[in-house]
Amino acid sequence: MKAVRVLEYGGPLVLSDVPTPTIARDEILVKIKSTAVNHVDLVKAAGTARQVLPIDLPWIPGHEFSGVVERIGSDVAAWAPGDAVFGTGMGAYAEYLAVKPALIARKPSNLSFEEAASVPVAAQTAWQGIFTHGHLEKGQTILIHGGAGAVGAYAVQLGFHAGATVIATASGDDEAYLDSIGASRVIDYREAQFEKVLREKVDVVFDLVGGDAQKQSFLVLKEGGHLVSAVQPVSQEEAAMHHVSGVMMRLAPSGDVVGRIGRLLEEGTIRPDVATVYALQYAAQAWKDIAGNLPRVHGMPPSGLGARSRKKHGKIVLRVA
Ligand SMILES: NC(=O)c1ccc[n+]([C@@H]2O[C@H](COP(=O)([O-])OP(=O)(O)OC[C@H]3O[C@@H](n4cnc5c(N)ncnc54)[C@H](OP(=O)(O)O)[C@@H]3O)[C@@H](O)[C@H]2O)c1
Repeated sequence: MKAVRVLEYGGPLVLSDVPTPTIARDEILVKIKSTAVNHVDLVKAAGTARQVLPIDLPWIPGHEFSGVVERIGSDVAAWAPGDAVFGTGMGAYAEYLAVKPALIARKPSNLSFEEAASVPVAAQTAWQGIFTHGHLEKGQTILIHGGAGAVGAYAVQLGFHAGATVIATASGDDEAYLDSIGASRVIDYREAQFEKVLREKVDVVFDLVGGDAQKQSFLVLKEGGHLVSAVQPVSQEEAAMHHVSGVMMRLAPSGDVVGRIGRLLEEGTIRPDVATVYALQYAAQAWKDIAGNLPRVHGMPPSGLGARSRKKHGKIVLRVA
């Protein structure tokens, strides 16, 4: 099969012929239709965080996919060849992927394969961030830092759907977009300091930005509130001082959560956002597009050509077949 691989840390993406994966009795072979690009692909490939995010080289990037079940192991009962699925799995920049049934769900019928591939990582991170770790409930208020990003946009939609008041920090030009998906207030992080303009304290902060945004968040949380970060550890001393909980979450992939998200997508309660679709062989260009948000990763400048030509928000998808 064809796959895009990283042969050495910081090296280029190489399209190669590699053996098609074999499956264990409890696995499924999925013929990949699309995959999507995540920051973590670039971070792992660069090797800068190899202590916490190790990879075996050569490495096939890609943590999410949509596709069609090609073959099932003898112990797999819930799926059959031909089923359209989406989910989380490592090594999805490839024509085939062996996955565990517990990580996938039925593809929503109203989504294209490209749209479906853009969902699992961002939407599950948002779900687990605000519900599992943030314990967000109806009637509460949540502040989401980076609300217009891939994860943030799902957090805004899921929070709104859960009956919470959603406040987001974002660039001012994302305000209309955030209004349209359920934010009741948008604070332009380039123009205002959220901790100065927020009059009421919030129950939950979901931090997708880190740095000062995280540090100042303690000032706007109610006692007993929750600060959940997807980007950096939360100071336990500060959390204790402000009588709040603080946690850095890490996505725990779950087919059950993907399935619930799939149902919300199918009924139109939430929607995906795809910025650009590239064919798999142009994965390197896709990485250049998102490297704008990740200076120094893979030696790319913060605002390369691709980054400037990119739509403001949404995921970058790779079409495989
Ligand atoms: N822990 C986990 O398991 C996990 C899982 C998934 C993702 N993540 C991490 O979560 C983060 C967000 O991921 P993503 O895919 O949503 O990224 P993304 O699509 O690049 O979105 C980032 C957003 O943050 C905004 N932003 C930048 N600086 C900001 C600031 N100071 N205040 C408010 N907003 C700001 C950006 O807006 P502008 O472009 O307008 O500046 C952009 O809309 C990444 O660091 C990613 O690695 C962690």
